[in-house]
Amino acid sequence: MPTDEYRQVLANNRAWVERMKAADPSFFDALAEGQSPGFLYIGCADSRVPANVIMGVQPGQVFVHRNVANLVVNTDVNAQAVIQYAVENLHVRQIVVCGHYGCGGVQAAMGDGDHGLLNGWLSEIRDVYRRHETELGKLEGEARYRRLTELNVLEQCTNVIKTSAVQGHYREHGFPTVHGWVYDLRDGLIRDLEIPFREILAEVQTIYRFSPHLTADQIAPVEAPEPDEVS
Ligand code: CO
Repeated sequence: MPTDEYRQVLANNRAWVERMKAADPSFFDALAEGQSPGFLYIGCADSRVPANVIMGVQPGQVFVHRNVANLVVNTDVNAQAVIQYAVENLHVRQIVVCGHYGCGGVQAAMGDGDHGLLNGWLSEIRDVYRRHETELGKLEGEARYRRLTELNVLEQCTNVIKTSAVQGHYREHGFPTVHGWVYDLRDGLIRDLEIPFREILAEVQTIYRFSPHLTADQIAPVEAPEPDEVS
């Protein structure tokens, strides 16, 4: 039997439709015409980090992919399809990977224990830990946990930049750019890690060469201005 909470959600939906139509009678007609979001957001499935809400954007403004601990696994067909579609078909200008402090996935990966099916998934985070063991080893407790959350975001951003979709589209059109964020559950604020997108792009292009025609002079120059800064 439906619970009160279940019934309330459907009532919420109807109330929301009425509010939106009252503010803009053509709201749903316009959305039904198609989407042209400026952002692809890749975040954690955690119920406390809802993409549209924390970004303050309406339906149609952000294409969203969420999973446990905001991972971009190179062999995950789901995430790879989302990235390819967002870049090549929707032409998003910005891709954001958003982690969050207090992430249960990161916490589980740092601890002991057999998590069954999640072992392989969480090993992606353990791999990040292993790559940054020296830095993380100097930190303790909460500081180490927070830093691993940030390094995980950086690593997943790098995985996004590795894709042929991002490399190819950036080479042709000068976007999308990739950003790393960490959301803090305790104050609701998004922290921009200001990852060095161009440096990472140039670095991955020396190894992850998916274009047979990519020559040295086509590798993104690190010193060039951001496309959005060009008038
Ligand atoms: Co999380």
